[in-house]
Amino acid sequence: MLGPAILMGQSKHRENCLSLGLDCDRIPRHIAIIMDGNGRWAKERNESRVFGHIHGVNAVRSSVEAALELGVRHLTLYAFSTENWSRPAEEVNALMDLLVTTLVKEVESLGDKGVRLRTIGDLSALPIDCQEQLRLAEDGTKNLQSLDLILALNYSSKWELVEAIKQLMKSDIDPKDLTADDVARNLSTNQIPDPELMIRTSGEHRISNFMLWQLSYAELYFTPTLWPDFSKEHFYESVRDFQNRDRRFGGIMDANRTMSKKG
Ligand code: IPE
Ligand code: IPE
Ligand code: MG
Repeated sequence: MLGPAILMGQSKHRENCLSLGLDCDRIPRHIAIIMDGNGRWAKERNESRVFGHIHGVNAVRSSVEAALELGVRHLTLYAFSTENWSRPAEEVNALMDLLVTTLVKEVESLGDKGVRLRTIGDLSALPIDCQEQLRLAEDGTKNLQSLDLILALNYSSKWELVEAIKQLMKSDIDPKDLTADDVARNLSTNQIPDPELMIRTSGEHRISNFMLWQLSYAELYFTPTLWPDFSKEHFYESVRDFQNRDRRFGGIMDANRTMSKKG
């Protein structure tokens, strides 16, 4: 049984989708974003890269709002990769500081909107104050259900797969019985459905070690827009594009654009 708040939310999503020309029944359940282009955005303005990251927070806010409006259930943002440690210490420190100040500033309003904050990645390598703020935000929002905002921090897909393999090697599963579900259960996304749509900003056409397993059948959307310029309209546009894709999952589509059934 769905509660009245959920039903009210659903009718609001329907209204929003209708006004944007989107099909409310085909909103991706999970959207993952590689937020890229902050440095180039700053460079275009003769500013430091950190200036770009600071402005990138506006795009995070817009994406969260747009996801809430459309009824997306999970939004994953790739915020810091295991490879990003190779950047100058000044930039890395500024990114960590920005994470803490943004969390402190925004967590209450996220909570008011029903946003649950979650993380994937090896948090143990982050500065202690980051870990602490993340823990507080995760604990404080753990019962909220409008949207899961999943921050990928010190995350990479290869790291995650190696961790999963270590767990599986310690488990009592007989290798000959190992299934894809066993692997998925040992990934950091084990309670989260795979993304149906992956967006990357800034005109780069690569995955950069992000959710290699989970993106197996995701629709990929690349836009030249630099992350700080990514607005709610850009977000809606990516969903509109997604709704025009034929998702075949290895099958074939009949003339009515419905999937053919076996037999
Ligand atoms: C994305 O923007 C933010 C992070 C990776 C943390 P970049 O900092 O990669 O910006 P560009 O790609 O150099 O323009
Ligand atoms: C990917 O962006 C990582 C994040 C958005 C956190 P990068 O800017 O680090 O990726 P590359 O180096 O261009 O592949
Ligand atoms: Mg980049």
